[in-house]
Amino acid sequence: MKKIALLTSGGDAPGMNACVRAVTRYAIYNKLEVYAVHRGYAGLINDDVERFTERSVSDIIQRGGTIIKTARSPEFNTLEGQKKATETLQRYGIDSLIVIGGDGSFRGAMDLYRNFGIKTVGIPGTIDNDLAYTDFTLGFDTAVNTVISAVNNLRDTMSSHDRVVIVEVMGRRCGDIALYAGVSCGAEIILVPELPTDVDVVTEKLLFNQKKGKTSNIVVMAEGVMPASELMTQIKARAKISIRTCVLGHIQRGGAPTMADRILAAKCAARAVDVLLEGKGGRVVGIAKGEIFDQDIVEALAMPRNLNMELYNLANIFGL
Ligand code: ADP
Ligand code: F6P
Repeated sequence: MKKIALLTSGGDAPGMNACVRAVTRYAIYNKLEVYAVHRGYAGLINDDVERFTERSVSDIIQRGGTIIKTARSPEFNTLEGQKKATETLQRYGIDSLIVIGGDGSFRGAMDLYRNFGIKTVGIPGTIDNDLAYTDFTLGFDTAVNTVISAVNNLRDTMSSHDRVVIVEVMGRRCGDIALYAGVSCGAEIILVPELPTDVDVVTEKLLFNQKKGKTSNIVVMAEGVMPASELMTQIKARAKISIRTCVLGHIQRGGAPTMADRILAAKCAARAVDVLLEGKGGRVVGIAKGEIFDQDIVEALAMPRNLNMELYNLANIFGL
């Protein structure tokens, strides 16, 4: 194995650029040729491939997004699309591919390995932190910190007006951004898609908090629960409470990566290249209890994801 390819796929995440840089330089240091694929699997199908040198990744460690772009490719979900992607790699004489992305991107990497023998290694890159096998994914820490600074600002104005604010954060099926940001900014209520939401209970709690003399009430809710406007309407139908909403949206997906995401990017990149140097494929890398590891991709994707209930229960105590 002399050549490796690298792509970013699915939703972008802060830290992807730091990871592209680290993979490129660590691989070149280890005498490999590096080929960057633009626009994820779509670029693999369309032969949008560029030979990278050390200089190709200058001045990107601090930038959010991904310089090699990302995409969602429905064609790649088909066997025909995967065959085209494999043929592109074969034309360059490449049999190894590093995929930085989330759950869907990893399923693609698994298919390329199982159906076409491409040695794939996945690096977890998504702000959602929705991959069960790893404690953290690239971009999650940065996204949570972005939410925290937004809520700090909101708290100032909401407490001046004795108001409630519902902050809608990303996460369609995974409540980790809401949970970790909620705990970190002292949210009174955290709502996640993994648990049922009872609007009667939420309303009672807000009224109770106001009676207790709380000047602001921050509700941090993952988008997968319901739209913030919907929750506001439902609460207003139950009680006379002054409420505002704030949908943070794609602000959470951009921005300079935090130290935690840059270090995670560096360590995952080195391990992913090492896995390929060992001649292995069909693997993912991750972090558990602070240690970087690699694991079989099929096993990793089969693991059920659970909300951190210990943290969630603590949050309810702190929000008193
Ligand atoms: P993420 O990787 O962030 O979860 P997506 O779910 O959008 O993002 O997946 C990114 C891309 O990965 C898709 O556009 C598709 O090309 C590929 N992909 C997703 N799911 C599968 C699958 N089950 N099999 C093969 N490829 C897939
Ligand atoms: O997968 C990351 C994520 O940011 C989700 O939390 C969000 O729902 C989704 O992507 C939005 O993706 P897009 O706007 O790119 O379709």
